[in-house]
Amino acid sequence: MTSISLSAPRRLRGVVRVPGDKSISHRAVILNAVAGGPARITNFLPGADCLSTIACVRALGVAVEREGAEVQVHGAGLRGLREPADVLDCGNSGTTLRLLAGLLAGAPLFAVLTGDASLRSRPQRRIVAPLRALGAWLDGRDHGDRAPLAVRGARLQGGQYALPVASAQVKSALLLAALAGEGPLTLTGQIASRDHTERMLRAMGVDLQVSAGQIILRPPTDPLLPYPLSLRVPGDPSSAAFWWVAAAIHPDAELTTVGVCLNPTRTGALDVLRAMGAAVEVTDERLEGSEPVGNVTVRSSALRGVTIGGDLIPRLIDEIPVLAVAAACAAGDTLIRDAQELRAKETDRIATVAAGLAAMGVAVEPTADGMGIVGRGGPTLVGAEVHSHGDHRLAMAWAIAALVASGTTRIHDPEAVAVSYPGFWETLAEVQ
Ligand code: S3P
Repeated sequence: MTSISLSAPRRLRGVVRVPGDKSISHRAVILNAVAGGPARITNFLPGADCLSTIACVRALGVAVEREGAEVQVHGAGLRGLREPADVLDCGNSGTTLRLLAGLLAGAPLFAVLTGDASLRSRPQRRIVAPLRALGAWLDGRDHGDRAPLAVRGARLQGGQYALPVASAQVKSALLLAALAGEGPLTLTGQIASRDHTERMLRAMGVDLQVSAGQIILRPPTDPLLPYPLSLRVPGDPSSAAFWWVAAAIHPDAELTTVGVCLNPTRTGALDVLRAMGAAVEVTDERLEGSEPVGNVTVRSSALRGVTIGGDLIPRLIDEIPVLAVAAACAAGDTLIRDAQELRAKETDRIATVAAGLAAMGVAVEPTADGMGIVGRGGPTLVGAEVHSHGDHRLAMAWAIAALVASGTTRIHDPEAVAVSYPGFWETLAEVQ
C-alpha cells in the first residue's frame, strides 16, 4: 500500500477537461454489445471499472477494440452472446455486475458474476428479487444477496415492479432484462435516478415510454433492435464535482470544467453548492447526442451550511464525500439525511467519510442515514493521516480537503482513483 502527501497551494487556477462519464461509458459498451451492428464510442472513460465492463463483454463473445478513449463495439445482437468460459470478473464495479446480471437473465447461457472483496460485500437482493419475479434464474451467496452470483438465462415475462430504492443500477438491470422479455415491463416506485439507460435505449429505437411516475418498456420484435448507437461520452459530473468543491472552498481559486454532462438527474451537487452560496457559472449549454452538456466555472466562495436530503439524494449520491468536505469548510451546520444508500457503496461512506473528516479536525456525527457536520467557518481543516480504504471517491475527497488544510495531509492507498479518474493526480498538480 502506498501513500501520497499533500499540502495547501497558494492558488488554484485552470481549465479541466474531466474524463468521460462512468455511467454512460458502461452503458455505451453493454447496450451496444447486444445491438445489431458496430458502434464507435469516443471520450470513453478508461477507468478500471469501465475496463472491467469491456473485459466481461469480450468474455461474452463480443468483439471490442479500444485505443485509449476510443472504443469500437461489434454488437452481436440480442441473441448473439456466447457462454463465457470462466467467471466474469467485475472488479470493483457495481454497475458492471448489476447491469450484466439483468442483461444475462434472459440470454441463452450460464454465467457467474463476481468481483473484488468490496463488490462481493455489497447487497444484490435488490436485483435478484425483482429479476426472479420476471422469471429469471439467479442465485448467490447469502441466499442470493452477495456475489458471486450465478445466472442461467431463462424465458422472462414482463410485468410490473415498484422500485423500493432509487437505484439506477436496479432500474437498468430490469430494463435490460426486459429487452428479452415476452411482454411489456412497467416500472413504478422510485424511478427518479440517473436516466442514461432510458435515454440510450430510446436512441437505439427501443419502445420505452417515461411518464409521470412510470416507465414502460415494450420488448423489440425487430431482430435488428436495438440499433447500434455511436456517441461521444460527455464529461463526468461526479469527477468534475471535485474541482467545483476545490474552487469553492479555496480562498484564491477559479476552476472551469468543460464538456460536463448536465443531465438533471446528475446535477444535485451544483444545486447544493449554489444553495451553500458558491459562485457557480454554467456556460455553453448544449445537447450532445442524448445528453445535455456545458462548462462549469466555480470561484472562491464563502459557504454556509445546508440540509441535504429527500429527492436531492439520488441526484448527488456519489458526490456526498466531497460535498461533506465543502460542508466542513462552511459557516454553520450541514445535515445530510435520507442517504442510507451510502452504506452500500464501495465502502460504507457514512462511516468512512465521518472518520476521515474527524481525523482532519471536523466535528461530525454519523447517523443511520447520513451525518451532521459542524462547519469550521472557512478553509481551516487540519492536515492528518487519512485512508481511501480502496474507495476512489474517498481518495479524491481527501485530496480536495488537503488543499485547504494546515500542514501535511497523508492519503493512504491513493491509487484507488484509477477506478473512475485515472489522471486525477496529474490534474491536481496542474491546477496549482
Ligand atoms: C450508478 C448508479 C448509482 C451510483 C453508481 C453508478 C449507475 O448506484 O452510485 O456510482 O451507473 O447506474 P445505485 O444504482 O446503487 O444508486
